[in-house]
Amino acid sequence: MRIELAAKVAKLKANTGVVPGLAVILVGEDPASKSYVTAKEKACAEIGVTSFDNRLPENTTEEELLALIHKLNQDPAVHGILVQLPLPKHIDEDRVIMAIAPEKDVDGFTPVNVGKLVIGQKAYLPCTPHGVVQLLLRSGVKLDGAHVVIVGRSNIVGKPLANLLLQKAPTGNATVTLCHTRTRDLATFTRQADIVIAAAGRPGTITADMVKDGAVVIDVGVNRVPAPEKPNGYKLVGDVDFDAIKEKASFITPVPGGVGPMTITMLLFNTVEAAEIAAENRK
Ligand code: GUN
Repeated sequence: MRIELAAKVAKLKANTGVVPGLAVILVGEDPASKSYVTAKEKACAEIGVTSFDNRLPENTTEEELLALIHKLNQDPAVHGILVQLPLPKHIDEDRVIMAIAPEKDVDGFTPVNVGKLVIGQKAYLPCTPHGVVQLLLRSGVKLDGAHVVIVGRSNIVGKPLANLLLQKAPTGNATVTLCHTRTRDLATFTRQADIVIAAAGRPGTITADMVKDGAVVIDVGVNRVPAPEKPNGYKLVGDVDFDAIKEKASFITPVPGGVGPMTITMLLFNTVEAAEIAAENRK
């Protein structure tokens, strides 16, 4: 997909002079967020998308952040705006997300884009859910009529993914069960799944006894766990017991290296699309 996107970027530039631009905003020093933002900026550079880096100190006020977003909303070189979440506690995340112009909301987090997704209108799709769907479809996994069990109900993954998979569309048509921390006897649900998607943010959420033979298992979890043997003192693990489940599953995604790179790819996809629309509207 990134090769396809690089070709699109080159074509857009040659035909219109427009270079897709992504403004990235990171507030504070959260190490995981820093590494995500760096990975996103690197991926932009690799396909010819300009990234505008805005790293702000932890004590940035909500008003300062909103002022920056208003400025970026007006900037014609910026086609997409990404505010890395979570934000520091003193900033109201909802207010910040709602300040992003929906046509620049390449994360698909604004109420306008979420609402469009739910009612099946064309919208910027949130990157992780869209990445999961592309990963499945491009691996030849059939969604039509499949029973997908999602574990996790976040606004970033579980809720939008359930909506996407429900759509009457080739990227949907699944039967979706959405489970969460208050689900009673989680295993009775996951054992029925053709496709299990773990997005709970907790290591060991899905163990081998919870998955039927031949199921497809997608691990959205990214958890830092202490690892004294590693130079940085930690390692990344998903929500799924990978080593045991890989013996049972027909397909399984690793952490790191599975869903994460797809999330970034779909961010690039949305940014390129936003630039194409802007170039078209300028004509
Ligand atoms: N934090 C965790 N996932 C994401 C994401 O996809 N986008 C943004 N902006 N923040 C996140």
